[in-house]
Amino acid sequence: MARGAGTDLAVEDVELPEPGPGEVRVKVRAAGVCHSDLSMINGTVTPEFPLILGHEAAGVVSATGPGVTRVANGDHVVVNWSPACRQCWFCQAGEPWLCVTAEGVACRPRGTLADGTQANVTLGVGALAEEIVVGEQAVITLPPRLPVAEAALIGCAVLTGVGAVRNTAGVRPGESVAVLGLGGVGLSTVAGARLAGADPIIAVDLSPEKEELARAAGATEFLLSDKALPKAIRSLTGGRGADHAFECVGRAATIRAAWQSTRRGGNCIVVGMGARDDAVSFSALEIFHFARTLTSSVYGSADPDRDVPLIAAAALDGSLDLGALVTHRISLADVPAAFDRMRRGEGARSLVLF
Ligand code: APR
Ligand code: ZN
Repeated sequence: MARGAGTDLAVEDVELPEPGPGEVRVKVRAAGVCHSDLSMINGTVTPEFPLILGHEAAGVVSATGPGVTRVANGDHVVVNWSPACRQCWFCQAGEPWLCVTAEGVACRPRGTLADGTQANVTLGVGALAEEIVVGEQAVITLPPRLPVAEAALIGCAVLTGVGAVRNTAGVRPGESVAVLGLGGVGLSTVAGARLAGADPIIAVDLSPEKEELARAAGATEFLLSDKALPKAIRSLTGGRGADHAFECVGRAATIRAAWQSTRRGGNCIVVGMGARDDAVSFSALEIFHFARTLTSSVYGSADPDRDVPLIAAAALDGSLDLGALVTHRISLADVPAAFDRMRRGEGARSLVLF
């Protein structure tokens, strides 16, 4: 629980509502610690407090409200933080990741603290908790054979990273890919590039310890991030620059570096979520001259109902190694230490096990 930006986190008791019509209660088995959770408390974005952190989870359905048809008690599920209503303009236009109803749901408080205060929940989920109550559209059934703990990562990092490659960029076999920032999201993007048959896959970070993790996820090259990065990437891509460069940090400087690492006519995809006042600049001439596309990828431009089963199948057949994205298995009390590692750029995903 975060009481405000920059304040100490605490583990607190929250009274959850019974699942109402169309809602389900999920016993969380595991929840990942994502940089977007850190962004809730470090001033990058300005949510309402008190706030239960966490939005990347998998678990077991423990109760269903009236009218629920998608799942039943005992089902293994992953949580989708952008549940599509299928009715709003964006859903009808085939862009469920921009669903406006989901955005509204995400802003509703859920659960009551001992003093009667309503608790807010990150991205409509609040997954760093033993149990959550969400709408049935926000859960997607997992194959029972898939280890449920690691499947938590599918709910944010993997849908985002694999989706950015497949859905947003449409990477084809043999195309060159650069990925800047190798946390859970960037490593998932590397894994997605491997699934797509990209070559080379150039992984970039500030921290040399990320090389091993990146190569395990499928990177064919590793570069340390510095001023000479665009040049280093050009020399690995026939002098041109990458066909696709993915920014998985969420900072103006890395967006600029990714842009400059993209070939003429290539694709620069911003996956990271940055701050309102962190401005990037592009000259009018360079926009014209390089003929690059600059786009962002929100939730991997995914339709989770369609994409989760595909990702789960890849995890089951061994072409996607979810375990390779997890470096720390921790308890709820260790979440502040996980954020400290994240601030230092250490490790990949920390997974809270319940
Ligand atoms: N160049 C390259 N890598 C960098 C740089 C830089 N200038 N600055 C930071 N990094 C690296 C860090 O060393 C770290 O490995 O970016 C990585 C970020 O990883 P995490 O903090 O674990 O973040 P993650 O959860 O993967 O999220 C990445 O996606 O969803 C968004 O809000 C999220 O913006 C965040 C981004
Ligand atoms: Zn996330």
